[in-house]
Amino acid sequence: MSTVVETDVLIVGSGPAGASAALALSTYGVPNLVVTRYASLADTPRAHITNQRTMEVLRDLGVEQEVVAQATPQHLMGNTTFCTSLAGEELGRVRSWGNDPLVQAEHELASPTRMCDMPQHLMEPVLVNAAVARGTRLRFETEYLSHTQDADGVTATVRDRLRGDTYEIRAKYLIGADGGRSKVAADAGLPMGGQMGVAGSINIVFEADLTRYTAHRPSTLYWVLAPGATVGGIGAGLVRCVRPWTEWLIVWGYDVTAGAPDLTTEYAESVVRKLVGDDDIPVTIKSSSAWTVNEMYAESYANGRVFCAGDAVHRHPPSNGLGSNTSIQDAYNLAWKLRLVLDGTAHPRLLDSYTAERAPVGRQVVTRANQSIRETAPVFEALGGLSPQTPEQLWANIAARKDSTQAAGKQRAELREAIAFKAYEFNAHGVDLNQRYASGAIVPDGTPDPGFARDPELHHQPSSRPGARLPHAWITSGSRTLSTLDTVGRGRFTLLTGIGGEAWVRAASAQDVPVATVVIGPGQAYEDPYGDWARLSEISDAGALLVRPDGFVAFRHASAAPDAGVLLTDALRTVLGHA
Ligand code: FDA
Repeated sequence: MSTVVETDVLIVGSGPAGASAALALSTYGVPNLVVTRYASLADTPRAHITNQRTMEVLRDLGVEQEVVAQATPQHLMGNTTFCTSLAGEELGRVRSWGNDPLVQAEHELASPTRMCDMPQHLMEPVLVNAAVARGTRLRFETEYLSHTQDADGVTATVRDRLRGDTYEIRAKYLIGADGGRSKVAADAGLPMGGQMGVAGSINIVFEADLTRYTAHRPSTLYWVLAPGATVGGIGAGLVRCVRPWTEWLIVWGYDVTAGAPDLTTEYAESVVRKLVGDDDIPVTIKSSSAWTVNEMYAESYANGRVFCAGDAVHRHPPSNGLGSNTSIQDAYNLAWKLRLVLDGTAHPRLLDSYTAERAPVGRQVVTRANQSIRETAPVFEALGGLSPQTPEQLWANIAARKDSTQAAGKQRAELREAIAFKAYEFNAHGVDLNQRYASGAIVPDGTPDPGFARDPELHHQPSSRPGARLPHAWITSGSRTLSTLDTVGRGRFTLLTGIGGEAWVRAASAQDVPVATVVIGPGQAYEDPYGDWARLSEISDAGALLVRPDGFVAFRHASAAPDAGVLLTDALRTVLGHA
């Protein structure tokens, strides 16, 4: 007799998207079950750059400190170095990932969290362990095969890879977090734009003590401009730190039209030697694998009761380190909506806002990551090394920049400029934090969009406009200092107001849906001793912000309102899909 397993939300995949969906749902008390194809979590480092927004999500989900404890800290991430090999000539550096003093200040002003380097094989266990501890049921070696859906739910067929038999799982909703070759997205018929297999790349994980080449210029990434480095891949050879300074991952391209080379240990070692440039250092190859650079995004992230998240709906190269970050943020956006629909608080139409809010972010991320690959070309061009030529020619061009000639001076300037331009890959703080959602779950306040005062890819611009993430400001509560972001989240709506906002507080407590209230001002539960909140809130003391469980502003009213009750009720009805 075949058994049907039942759950509220079935999640396919235990990568960053699936694991964080499980963690958020279990944190909110929603029964969920994860099936994942393999016998273990990620066994190679893969994603690592973890940006401030993701750290805010992890902070709200209660695992930030666990990640901080295991991650490489920000100050060891930031001397992105361009060189001919680690032991070879250095061509220039970019202070990256918030390590430029000016950018660092922007990071500190933007968030209570710090960016860090958390390899995926360490991140996944943190997310999954916490999810399981909070109630997620997890089945390894279980492969999703197909699904059907009807008005009440989804029935998925899965195969137990250990026993070889199949069984059915009945869920109210299905999340396809099954990565870049998502079968769930394909079965759900999600329309995808773009192209798979744009270029070929190889990951080589190895151990070697490279302290003498790296510790004086600590970095997550060392870019190697060696002959052959522009073939396929991500624009150059890459030596990436997994654990300072003894565990590494090399990314090296191959011609995708010719197919991946035979990934023998000898081949892997030859690439490592070429990029490290020191044949005497002992090297232990741990693994090699081939993958392709993709440039694809889905126009819709859902079909009926099936929702996809992560690489299932946006596929792009690792440039800018956005894949896992975006995957975690997709899951966080979806989880609270599923919870409120499942417990009857919201109308299912709230779920339409998932695609409306996240698909534009996915599109932007795919475009930016691929553009960053193209923007590596000018570094080679400055060295006359893009067109096919002999290694000797490339070395001669690199040496020529040291000459005391006008041409060499021009070459030096072009090289400096091309390397500095890579800030759009290594310091794109705006790409990390400037999301502005427009959907049925946001109530516009009628004010004109002021746009961005500075380059929106490079610079974060805080805003309390509906659709923006609540600005971070340090406030106090008694002897405690906390972020405004610490007052929101935990799965609930929060209303922020100040002195004179009593009508808003009364309105919040009169709602059917729980709305926490935060009153900021002298003598109130929270105070603003630095005046930061007064500067950033963009409302008067007696105005109000209604913040969603994911920290995004849903509704804003600039001043006191005698009809606060009506305004707040209407706003919540709109957000929850009842209007
Ligand atoms: P992911 O692919 O991680 O997980 C898919 C899951 O689904 C797996 O658990 C898999 O086993 C499971 N699965 C698949 N099919 C299944 C089926 N039929 N049945 C059951 N289970 C199934 N990102 C970033 O943010 N910062 C960074 O610095 C980098 N750097 C980076 C470097 C390199 C070299 C690579 C290759 C990639 C990155 N990335 C990155 C990208 C990042 O790794 C990627 O975006 C995330 O892993 C995507 O997470 P998902 O959970 O969506 O898919």
